[in-house]
Amino acid sequence: MAVLRGVVDWLDERFPIKSLYKKHFTEYHVPKNLNLMYVFGVLALVLMANQLLTGIWLAMSYEPSPEKAFASIQYIMRDLPYGWLIRYLHTTGASALFIVLYFHVLRSLLYGSYQKPRELVWLFGMTLYFVIMIEGFLGYLLPWGQMSYWGAQVITSIFGSIPVVGTSLQEWVRGGYFVSGVTLKRFYALHVIAFPLLLLLLVFLHLSTLRHVGSNNPAGIDIKKHRDQNGVPLDTIPFAPYFVSKEVLAIGVFLFLFCIVVFFFPTMGGYFLEKANLEPANRLQTPEHIAALWYFTPFYAMLRAVTFSLFGLDAKFLGALVMVSAVVVPFALPWLDKSPVKSIRYKGRLSKLFLMLFCLSFVLLGVVGSLPVSALSTGIAQLCSLLYFAYFLLMPWYSRYETTLPVPERVQ
Ligand code: HEM
Repeated sequence: MAVLRGVVDWLDERFPIKSLYKKHFTEYHVPKNLNLMYVFGVLALVLMANQLLTGIWLAMSYEPSPEKAFASIQYIMRDLPYGWLIRYLHTTGASALFIVLYFHVLRSLLYGSYQKPRELVWLFGMTLYFVIMIEGFLGYLLPWGQMSYWGAQVITSIFGSIPVVGTSLQEWVRGGYFVSGVTLKRFYALHVIAFPLLLLLLVFLHLSTLRHVGSNNPAGIDIKKHRDQNGVPLDTIPFAPYFVSKEVLAIGVFLFLFCIVVFFFPTMGGYFLEKANLEPANRLQTPEHIAALWYFTPFYAMLRAVTFSLFGLDAKFLGALVMVSAVVVPFALPWLDKSPVKSIRYKGRLSKLFLMLFCLSFVLLGVVGSLPVSALSTGIAQLCSLLYFAYFLLMPWYSRYETTLPVPERVQ
């Protein structure tokens, strides 16, 4: 113990670790009513670390060329000691990150965490989500299986549907007329270097802006209003050790569940790792049903929901517009919500109804987006897309005019 204290003191004389720890842990206060929904942020951090570490290990044995990519993944899975574990940690980690993020975002919607003064926290969070989706898409091409290849072919062909510049843009993105070794190499470079760096920067900005304004809480009460004689908000607890111990417990439980999936259900019935991707990419054979990975299916369903052309714009381009808007519109949420209260607990009936319909439509879009196209699935996708947008676009109206409940002054 004395040795450790000596090391810390030695370090502290050269780098202010003690005061940094105090400032960001023991003297940083969080609301005392933070519940389970507040652990998904730290779980996202754990999963990001897992992706970075396992990604570095995978990159040591992966070969980014059409001739060797598929075989190098087989090598990692079958011959490399514990290669299968590293790869399953990476593939399961990707899906787990999306699950965790969906709960993290749901928490923000429930408690109005995007409202003033946390607009920047929300904007950096949404940018993170967008960049993570691109990162996932880029990584999915790397195993060079049938679904990797045709998924990339379909998504990059969306650029081709843009009027006037589309064809050149599509060619530019692919680095040729079709997805090839050139595309694979650039996706690899972006997946392992450019986007991870961007993600680290965004996580830093997300957390720094949050630290600056402080956490919201499930009741949406402004805890900074009531302080003790030292200026510490009354309804708070020190982040360390109180909230940190809750987070450590959550991380433990989460890792236990995560390991069960990694060791016993790594493919999750084809949702985390698709069966069609066990066949090497074949440019001459299109799979019968090109499915998106489960975390893209709500947006994929919106892309396919538009089956008609309008004003001379073809259905594919309009579908792409709807899909992109579905990601862009939530950025404006802090300015669409006109409610005088933050938390759903005190909002009116309409807010509750629209949030429920939004969640339901998002899940249903995810389900129909994973099914082959049919008249029924297209109908459901169209209806759910309308409900998805209604939640955001009608919010300025229903959040302003509904009757809200009084928010308590103090955390109870
Ligand atoms: C890898 C991605 C992300 C990481 C690592 C991350 C991490 C965190 C952490 C550690 C917190 C503090 C603990 C908590 O409140 O749970 C937090 C808070 C927050 N995050 Fe994220 N986050 C990510 C993505 C997102 C996304 C996609 C959104 C929304 C679009 C978002 C919105 C928020 C908001 C609004 C808060 C403040 C919550 C409050 O004070 O009530 N985050 N994030």
